[in-house]
Amino acid sequence: MTTMTLNVGPAVAAGTETAEQESVKTNAEIVKTVGQPFSDDAKLKMRNVNVFYGEAQAIHNVSLDIGRNEVVAMIGPSGCGKSTFLRCLNRMNDTIEGCRVEGELTLDDEPIYGPKVDVVPLRARVGMVFQKPNPFPKSIYDNVAYGPKIHGIASRRAELDEIVENSLRRAGLWNEVKDRLDKPGTGLSGGQQQRLCIARAIAVSPEVILMDEPCSALDPIATARIEELIDELRENYTIAIVTHSMQQAARVSQRTAYFHLGKLVEVNDTETVFTNPEHELTEAYITGRFG
Ligand SMILES: Nc1ncnc2c1ncn2[C@@H]1O[C@H](COP(=O)(O)OP(=O)(O)OP(=O)(O)O)[C@@H](O)[C@H]1O
Ligand SMILES: [Mg+2]
Repeated sequence: MTTMTLNVGPAVAAGTETAEQESVKTNAEIVKTVGQPFSDDAKLKMRNVNVFYGEAQAIHNVSLDIGRNEVVAMIGPSGCGKSTFLRCLNRMNDTIEGCRVEGELTLDDEPIYGPKVDVVPLRARVGMVFQKPNPFPKSIYDNVAYGPKIHGIASRRAELDEIVENSLRRAGLWNEVKDRLDKPGTGLSGGQQQRLCIARAIAVSPEVILMDEPCSALDPIATARIEELIDELRENYTIAIVTHSMQQAARVSQRTAYFHLGKLVEVNDTETVFTNPEHELTEAYITGRFG
C-alpha cells in the first residue's frame, strides 16, 4: 500500500509564518490523487477544479476523467464535496449564490464553462438526478414530457406518449402510475417521486447522467430496478453516481473515486478500491474506521 501525506504545502521555515502566508499555503495545498483518475476514452475531463462557497473552499484541485460507457462511483464521508463536484459537471453550481468554480472542465473536449455555452442544452446533454426528488408542480405525464417538448425531441402526442411510457417503465414506475398520469407528480411518495425524476432525466436521452444518491429514498426493489437501469444506460451513456452504499458502488461502477475533505484521494477500478485500496484514507473509509 502506498502512503502519502495529504496536505503538501510549500515549505515554510517553522515559526516564520504570517497569517497571509498561512492562507497562501492553504490555497496552494495540492493532493496528488493516487490510482487511475484518467481515461483513454474520456467523455468528461476535469482538470484542477477548485470550488468555493464565498471564502470557503469545498473542492481542492480535483482532476478526473469520466469515460464513455463508463459508470464512475463517487464515495466519501458526508460533507467531503461529492455533490458539489457533481454539480460542476453541468453547471448546476451556477444556480447557487456565492458559488465559484475554477479549473478546466470539458465535455467531448468542448469547454463546459466557455462564454458561448448555453446551459439549457448543456443540461439536456448532461442530465441530473438530485439527492432530494424535485418533481415539477405538474402532472406525472408532464414531468416526463416537458424535457422532450422544450428540447424539440418530440412534439406529436403519440411520440410523447411513447417517450413517457418508455421512460417510466425504465425507471420502474410505470405500473404504479399508468392510471393516474394526469395527477400531480408532487402527490407521489418520496421513492416514487425519485423514480419520476429519474424518468424525467432519461426522457431527453442525455449523453451523461449525474446521479446524486439516487436510491437513498428507495426500497430494495426499486433500488435493484435503478441499478439494472444504470447498467442498461451505460451501453450508450456516461454516468457519474454519488452513493453512500459501498455495495451499490461495487455493483454498478467500473471505477470508484474516493473524496476526503474536498480532495480526490484515490480513483481506481472498483474492485481494487474495495479489495485492495491504494491509499490509507480510502482503506480507513471502506473498512468503516471513519465516515
Ligand atoms: N449551498 C452551499 N453553500 C455553502 N456551503 C455549501 C453549500 N453546499 C455545500 N456546502 C459546503 O460544501 C462542503 C461539501 O458539501 P457537499 O454537499 O458537496 O458534500 P457531500 O459530500 O455531497 O455530503 P453528503 O454526503 O452529506 O451529501 C460542505 O462543507 C458543505 O457545508
Ligand atoms: Mg451530497
